[in-house]
Amino acid sequence: MSKLIQNDVLKGLNLDNVESYFFKSIDSTNTFAKKTFLEKAFVIVLAEQQTAGKGRHGKTWHSPESGNIYLSLKYQADSIDPCITLIVGVLVAEALYESSGKKINAQLKWPNDVLLNKKKICGILIESEVVEEKMECTIGIGVNYSIPKTESWWGDLSGLKDVLPREKLINAILKKIITYKDNGYLNWQQQWADKCMHQNIAISIITSQQKEINGIFRGVDNEGKMLLETSNGIQAISSGECSIKGLY
Ligand code: BTN
Repeated sequence: MSKLIQNDVLKGLNLDNVESYFFKSIDSTNTFAKKTFLEKAFVIVLAEQQTAGKGRHGKTWHSPESGNIYLSLKYQADSIDPCITLIVGVLVAEALYESSGKKINAQLKWPNDVLLNKKKICGILIESEVVEEKMECTIGIGVNYSIPKTESWWGDLSGLKDVLPREKLINAILKKIITYKDNGYLNWQQQWADKCMHQNIAISIITSQQKEINGIFRGVDNEGKMLLETSNGIQAISSGECSIKGLY
C-alpha cells in the first residue's frame, strides 16, 4: 500500500471525473497510465517506488522508495499544446510556491527542469499518443521530496516537510494541471521567463551532433523553443535538438 493519505491527495477534486491508483511499487506510473483505459476524464497514478522509472531522452529516472513523488496524470484532448512541457514546469513551480505558503520559490531550467537552490528537484516527462483516433496525453512528474544524497546536482525538499506535506503538494499540482487542461494558460511565456534561472544570461548548449553553441538566452517562443542570441542573430532551438551545458 502507498503511504499517501488518499483523501488529502484527492481533496477538492471532482471525483466523478477522476480515477485514481495508488501503488507501493510499480514499473512506471507513466507506463501504467498509458495502458489504462480512460473511463473518466482523468487517470491519476501514484507510486512510492518505480522499478523502471522513465526520464527524458530515454534515460532512467531513479525512483527509490524514499518518500519521493512519482505521479502521472492522463487525459484525452483534441490537440496538445507544443509548449505543454514548459507549461507544466510553470504549474509545478506555482504549486510549490502557493502550497508552501510562498516559502518554496523554485526556478526553471529550460525546457522544464524545476530547481531549488540551483539543484534539480523535479523532472517532467510528457508522452502523447493517438489511441482509437483520439489524442491521449500522459504527464509524468517526479519530485525529489526526499532522496538519498547522490550527485551534487540533485536537490530535494527534505527539511521542508513541515512546510509542505507531500499530499498537499500533489493535490496542488493536480488542481493546477486540471485547470490548465480545461482553461488553457494565456500568459505562460511571461510566467516561465520570470521563473527561469538563466534568462538573459550567457549559456552554452550542446547540440545532438555534439556541437557547442554559445549565446545569450532570450526566453522562449510560443512553441517553447529556446531563443538563443548568437553572433548570427537569434536562433529558435527545440529541446530535442540540444541541452544546456553546466548551470548546476
Ligand atoms: C526527466 O528526465 O527530467 C523527467 C523525469 C520524469 C520522471 C517521472 S516519475 C513519474 C513518471 N513516471 C515515469 O516513469 N517517469 C515520470
